[in-house]
Amino acid sequence: MADKPKLTTSAGAPWVSNQDSLSAGERGPLLLQDYQLIEKLAHQNRERIPERTVHAKGWGAHGTLKITGDISKYTKAKCLQPGAETPMLARFSTVAGEAGAADAERDVRGFSLKFYTEEGNWDMVGNNTPVFFVRDPYKFPDFIHTQKRHPKTHMRSPTAMWDFWSLSPESLHQVTILMSDRGLPISPMHMNGYSSHTFSLWNDAGERYWVKFHFKTQQGHKHHTNAEAEELVGKTRESYQEALFNAIDGGEFPRWKFQIQVMAEEEAEKCDFNPFDLTKVWPHDQFPPIDVGTMELNRNPENYFAEVENAAFSPSNVVPGISWSPDKMLQARIFSYADAHRYRLGTHYEQIPVNRPKCPVHHYHMDGEMNVYGGVATGTPNAYYEPNSFDGPTDNPGQKEPPLKIDGNADRYDHRNGHDDYSQVRTLFEKVLEDDEKERLFANVAGTWPGVPEEICERQLSEFKKVHPDYEAGVRRAWEKVKAEGGYKPNAQPVSESTPQEAAE
Ligand code: NDP
Ligand code: HEM
Repeated sequence: MADKPKLTTSAGAPWVSNQDSLSAGERGPLLLQDYQLIEKLAHQNRERIPERTVHAKGWGAHGTLKITGDISKYTKAKCLQPGAETPMLARFSTVAGEAGAADAERDVRGFSLKFYTEEGNWDMVGNNTPVFFVRDPYKFPDFIHTQKRHPKTHMRSPTAMWDFWSLSPESLHQVTILMSDRGLPISPMHMNGYSSHTFSLWNDAGERYWVKFHFKTQQGHKHHTNAEAEELVGKTRESYQEALFNAIDGGEFPRWKFQIQVMAEEEAEKCDFNPFDLTKVWPHDQFPPIDVGTMELNRNPENYFAEVENAAFSPSNVVPGISWSPDKMLQARIFSYADAHRYRLGTHYEQIPVNRPKCPVHHYHMDGEMNVYGGVATGTPNAYYEPNSFDGPTDNPGQKEPPLKIDGNADRYDHRNGHDDYSQVRTLFEKVLEDDEKERLFANVAGTWPGVPEEICERQLSEFKKVHPDYEAGVRRAWEKVKAEGGYKPNAQPVSESTPQEAAE
């Protein structure tokens, strides 16, 4: 057997003992010069970084995106050309739970993909649902507050959730999907991924197309009922990690079919719904999905912290040939993620190996926290400002995306009034959900209502009625049943009587 490596300090010097502290006499006290003991305790104190404010619990793996279709007429992106193979990282997550939350909880699932393309990193930071709860970014932090713990009781608050949702009709589509079977997949491998937002592709001729990205599970959709999940969580809180890690470890590599929906710029102008509204899908019959390729996950991380916790995904990461759209939510996300990473991981988070592009990087950012590559990344020591006479990197005008025609007055447009929040939910309810699934939807909604004030439930029921009278009737029936059976009620109603200031006085 090979000799075991010998212990060193973190500065590389041989270290004598990882067992016994240095004390004055056998009974102590300790000597301050035992700095390795101090180092060890100090390191332990710094083992945690801030968890993500949302999507804290996650599961990840590496893989490959292979392009088999031909969408070259829409995009010049090299990673989307026929035959291209791009290494990638996927991170799946739940939204609301903390890093130690149980996996089998009803929640939207994050579906984050980082493609290490030869033209830089392209991140597709989507969800397992094609729509979202809100359509204006002002409402995102408010929505997230309703999913997190109440400031006084420190409990999750169904009252806050249903209060917000019942006052926000644009949430109906996503709430219906969340409360349906698809709200609780059995593993990350058994769900689809959607960009949800509209993005754009652009080609060498300077033409732009609006697109939605879809990743369709090839393992089939499989879901837990609430009862199954309750039982499972009693046995394991890590069912997703177990399923994903073990499948890949055993050589059963999960796959997703990569598809896009495409809308021409002129079509968007005459579309009967706003194609940049995140609460809407593009109907398949009008915008049929086009096959583009296959995503396969085939390698487990060697170190979870280094490769999954440290992963920094951002919708701002696009590459030539792929870009954003006017969707207001997406526009806010373009800012928000890099800001979160600078706080959570540090200024130069893109130098962390899992985030580093696998292509040359040249820019003029200097110094700062975590900058381990000596300042500028230009490769020419005197070119640390621009313009310069020292062969520093210059612009890439050939990679300019086509101009975007915009018009309209700068104003605060009411994002509530005048929107149809019901038709697409009605289609889902009437045409897609089977009868048994509808029954589970009703029960899943009603199951979260014990403790929620009656007027909030009634307000939500009136919203369901605008979707379909059967939706309202079904949830009402299920709610009466829950009440008759005396459903589980949290001990304290998470509605605080006094403000924190009043309480402190
Ligand atoms: P289609 O009948 O062509 O599409 C229905 C789609 O619904 C399916 O293709 C599938 O999407 C998805 N679906 C199937 N079963 C379920 C389920 N149990 N729960 C949730 N979604 C399911 O009609 P439309 O394109 O007009 O869409 C009708 C409704 O379907 C929409 O209002 C929306 O609520 C929902 N939907 C639509 C999607 C879209 O991109 N058009 C995507 C997902 C849902 P998939 O193939 O992506 O699995
Ligand atoms: C994570 C902001 C909407 C998908 C995050 C994080 C922030 C954030 C700050 C934590 C990032 C980190 O610390 O690493 C926002 C804002 C939104 C928004 C401001 C709306 C204005 C959405 C939408 C989707 C989405 C609509 C999906 C379509 C995700 C995913 C993650 C995430 C998947 C986890 C990323 C990972 O795996 O590390 N979001 N978000 N978010 N968000 Fe959003």
